[in-house]
Amino acid sequence: MAILNILKEDKDLGDLRKKSKPVEKINKRITLLLDDMRETLKNAGGVGLAAPQVGVLRRVVIIEIEDGGLIEMINPEIIYSGGEQEEVEGCLSSPGKFAILIRPESVKVAYLDRNGEKQEKEGTELLARAFCHEIDHLDGVLCFDNAKRILTQEEYDELNREEEAD
Ligand code: NI
Repeated sequence: MAILNILKEDKDLGDLRKKSKPVEKINKRITLLLDDMRETLKNAGGVGLAAPQVGVLRRVVIIEIEDGGLIEMINPEIIYSGGEQEEVEGCLSSPGKFAILIRPESVKVAYLDRNGEKQEKEGTELLARAFCHEIDHLDGVLCFDNAKRILTQEEYDELNREEEAD
């Protein structure tokens, strides 16, 4: 396994804007990509990572949330979304920048796992946001595009302090 370079918005925006192609065949290259993405996400300490963020224009996403385990998704599609939540999001491609945006409260996705089996998974709250955020990456969309407000690191830290004080 290898730690891959994560593309950054300030230098690599052109590449992050590209649309990823569906995976047609799950071969060794794709399973190796999943392994490397897992290692890269663990090293970076984020919630999710999409293949285009490591320079691979394929519809591959991984998400790891506490007590949710690791979810590997190939060709993910949102098949249901409902409700609304407003929260703060960050992105491994944009360190020190945060977005306040509205996402659905509940999201269901269909995808293939690494064995090529069809899977469906429903998520709420953080997991629902992660599904939307990572699948957006596959279409070259960043969370800042639809933000109600963009926060700097200082503003984000301030917001967290206010929440802790409440
Ligand atoms: Ni991101």
